[in-house]
Amino acid sequence: MDNKQAEKKGLYLALISVHGLTRGHDLELGRDPDTGGQTRYVVELTRALAQCPEVERVDLLTRRVVDSNVSSDYARGEEPLGNNAYIIRRNAGPDGYIRKEELWDHLDSFVDNLAHYLSEAPRLPDIIHSHYADAGYVGSRLAALLGIPLVHTGHSLGRVKRRRLLAAGMKPLEIEQQYNMARRIEAEENALGAAEVVIASTHNEIEDQYARYDFYQPEHMRVIPPGTDLENFFPPTGKTQQHPIAEQINRFLRNPDKPMILALSRPDSRKNISTLIRAYGQSQELRRAANLVIVAGNRDDLREMESGPKTVLTEILMLIDQYDLYGHVAYPKAHKPEEVPVMYRLAAASRGVFVNPALTEPFGLTLIEAAASGLPVVATEDGGPQDIISTCQNGILVDPLDTKAIGKALLKVISNAALWQKLSANGLKAAHDHYSWTAHAESYLEVIRPLLEKARPLERAPLLRRRMLYHDRALFTDLDQNLLGDPNALAELLLLIRENRQCVSFGIATGRGLESALSLMKRFGIPMPDVLITHVGTEIYYAPQLTADLAWSRHIDYLWNADAVRRTLGPIPGLELQPKHEQGQFKVSYYYDPKKAPSIDELNSLLHQADLAVNSFVSFGQYLDIVPVRASKGLALRYFASQWDIPLDHILAAGGSGTDKDMMLGNTLGVVVANRHEEELGDLTEMHSIYFARRPFAAGIMEAIAHYDFLSACRAPNQSEAV
Ligand code: GLC
Repeated sequence: MDNKQAEKKGLYLALISVHGLTRGHDLELGRDPDTGGQTRYVVELTRALAQCPEVERVDLLTRRVVDSNVSSDYARGEEPLGNNAYIIRRNAGPDGYIRKEELWDHLDSFVDNLAHYLSEAPRLPDIIHSHYADAGYVGSRLAALLGIPLVHTGHSLGRVKRRRLLAAGMKPLEIEQQYNMARRIEAEENALGAAEVVIASTHNEIEDQYARYDFYQPEHMRVIPPGTDLENFFPPTGKTQQHPIAEQINRFLRNPDKPMILALSRPDSRKNISTLIRAYGQSQELRRAANLVIVAGNRDDLREMESGPKTVLTEILMLIDQYDLYGHVAYPKAHKPEEVPVMYRLAAASRGVFVNPALTEPFGLTLIEAAASGLPVVATEDGGPQDIISTCQNGILVDPLDTKAIGKALLKVISNAALWQKLSANGLKAAHDHYSWTAHAESYLEVIRPLLEKARPLERAPLLRRRMLYHDRALFTDLDQNLLGDPNALAELLLLIRENRQCVSFGIATGRGLESALSLMKRFGIPMPDVLITHVGTEIYYAPQLTADLAWSRHIDYLWNADAVRRTLGPIPGLELQPKHEQGQFKVSYYYDPKKAPSIDELNSLLHQADLAVNSFVSFGQYLDIVPVRASKGLALRYFASQWDIPLDHILAAGGSGTDKDMMLGNTLGVVVANRHEEELGDLTEMHSIYFARRPFAAGIMEAIAHYDFLSACRAPNQSEAV
């Protein structure tokens, strides 16, 4: 047991939510599409978890924003939330506030910044919990680096959104440009593969939404409904009817004392208010028995509204007119947020019913608010309400397209006093038992407990190694296409490296196995580097005796099944297994013929469908390597950097093909040599942090050394420190 384990007291949980504006007070919900439900969810979850006795600390890790357009609260590196809960902010790309679709290129750097924060902390977290696709990307990388179990919550899913946008007539290219959808979905697939548990809010989310993913493993998914803030929602008191909002509603109604059918939603066509009005309008019995109250947002001048809400509201008015519902239907123009709880109470006091007829309802928070107010519900059977009603037993589910069924259900609840009483009492009790954040946190800890037992966080390797004398910085490069190719430039570069051995560690990261790499190096007179990473990041050796890093092998031996990889890819055209000596214990390699073989995305899809969590790389358009999910050249490089304590921004990483990519992303100083493989590294050209050399091979690396002024900045550490 290392120190980090021994010091352990309670649980340390690290939640990640990257986008939007997150702080502990006055959440700016609705300020923009990125600061909404998820923001509230993660802050409340952080607080609730921190209150559990077995939890020692909770960090909510988010992006630091330094921008005069937003509050300086978002620039603080650390914000205590009380009870050992903290918001920790770290940089991700530019200082300014940017929308989530623009964040993708900056996430690698965010990963590196968080890894640095966590490595400085007294101990590693027990769990990393990512929220939404962007954090899914960050969380998968961090979990892989640190060997910590990942828990993921999607919040909303790219594949579902893409379908909706397509159905609304948007073109695939437009969707891609506006929402960066391919990257989002890829991140989601990878997070689903890497996560030990996925937490959903409803069963419907699992069955209808996650089921669209290649990496669909329902056995790893758990439903824990979000907590709701129920402080403001309680049954009617004597004063309820005196509230001014009662007057606002009653002025529409001929007989305000009748039971109230309350509908409360945004003026959005998916909320299906028109079918509700038809149901009411077409039932004489219902019209006699109850009033209908429609609260659909706030409006000033209808004519000046955006077309979506305007269409919905206009239709409401036209239907009221068509069925001549004057005096029976109230549709207040405006209300304040604090009046919402009062409206539920008014409806409950009238012995009414809450109705949510939405075509689909992802969760159904309003149903829980109604339950907590003692108000029975009639709700759409599509989506979250199924779970809520089966848990609370406080109402009736209906087909949102069946006008008659809606009318019948409403009438049933209103006209049967005993039933009404029972539904009301059931809802009141269940809302508190099941939908508080405290209840959520309890279920949450139950779900993660088994993960903690089998977790094997990264060991600090007790390697038989001397501490490097020159560990101020390091140069990493691929072998074949970077070092070789120009013998003169190679000789020059090797000389430069030799002259600077005092401060620069030299590393080679190759796709070859150890023997093959060594014999090639010998042939070209390349000396043994300080660290040799082989088989695409799956093996690490240290000079001078080629000591293998066994801790690394143990670390990456996670979810790895080489046979299953070969079985899955065996029958695929255009793939041919490389000879035996090219295969590694943790690397399955093929020759890849892009003319005959499926694209890398399609191959990933196949691997995901077979439930294989792996990293796959195409390089130089002719090789395909599959390695464990915790391995890659970039991950091996980062492992080395943390073990030897070299800051990533003191590492120059040179590459030319697909397998090199993640060495150059993030906080390392990256250089792509001119003889790069265009297609595989083309997307890096957009990234300002990576230098594109004009010259090929070793000459390109020297060009980058000059560009970054890499050697003159070098400070050899004090010799006496090095043991
Ligand atoms: C080297 C390896 C081969 C691998 C390729 C790409 O050529 O020998 O197995 O597929 O690099 O990483």
